[in-house]
Amino acid sequence: GRTGDLAGRRVVVTAGGTREPVDPVRFLGNRSSGKMGFALAAEALARGAQVRLISAPTALTPPYGAEFVEVETTLQMLEAVRQAVATADVLVMNAAVADFRPAAPAPRKIKKEELRADEGARADAQAEAEEVLTLRLVRNPDILQELTHLSAAQTDTAAAARSAPAPLAEVSGSSPSRSSETPARPRRLIRVGFAAETHDVLSYARQKLAQKSLDLLVANDVTRPDSGFGSDTNKVYIFHADGGLEELPVMPKEEVAAAIWDRIVPLLGTN
Ligand code: PMT
Repeated sequence: GRTGDLAGRRVVVTAGGTREPVDPVRFLGNRSSGKMGFALAAEALARGAQVRLISAPTALTPPYGAEFVEVETTLQMLEAVRQAVATADVLVMNAAVADFRPAAPAPRKIKKEELRADEGARADAQAEAEEVLTLRLVRNPDILQELTHLSAAQTDTAAAARSAPAPLAEVSGSSPSRSSETPARPRRLIRVGFAAETHDVLSYARQKLAQKSLDLLVANDVTRPDSGFGSDTNKVYIFHADGGLEELPVMPKEEVAAAIWDRIVPLLGTN
């Protein structure tokens, strides 16, 4: 049975699509509805985990019992995830995170009258006729990538604590068995990523798994209407760090969530 197999575990799930402001009334976003991420959070709760759901705006009601953190931009999500993983066993990065943001969001609503052809467009007669607005975008940090460094640092700190001389209280204490009761140990954060590609899904997925040194990578098939962004069902491939690959049938997102936690639980065994 799966009941309670996440009891005592702290898990962090991200959901939804981050939004990057263009001006006070407009943003760059994507088609994530939050359904897959909310299903992952609900399933972890049902199995007894303590769940923090970090979500970009969605139309959904957060599952009862989750610690719900609402964010909007990628930078806000990075900050919330950073704080949350400090004490977590698992991070499931299901959010569709904007890779770019407007370099300088306008402080006031951009008016049509402000449109003017820029240097590049001036050379293009047609673009000039149509009036262009050029948005300059800058790269956002990669949240999973940032955490590669973070979890390595955590592991180093824990390892250093373990090899450091025992504190005075322990050396002179009356209980000689005490040091073996609570050994300091590196707490490894299990990291699960998602991939949504429109083409060459499998080769990109393998690259991402390796690049972001993930424990699992779940690749959605976004070429079919019953899978990926917005749908109630999903068809996924699960890539394991050891090279294993599973193809799952189209299932409701709740069942896909259960299948994913089924793969995560065994990885927690030694934590
Ligand atoms: O919300 P739904 O409508 O239910 O749809 C679910 C989903 C299709 C959005 C979801 O299952 C999904 O696939 N989410 C990831 C979408 C994506 O486009 O991922 P990516 O290929 O851009 O990124 C790969 C991984 O790196 C993801 O785990 C992502 O969260 C993470 N990432 C990406 C960019 C970035 N700057 N930081 C990140 O951590």
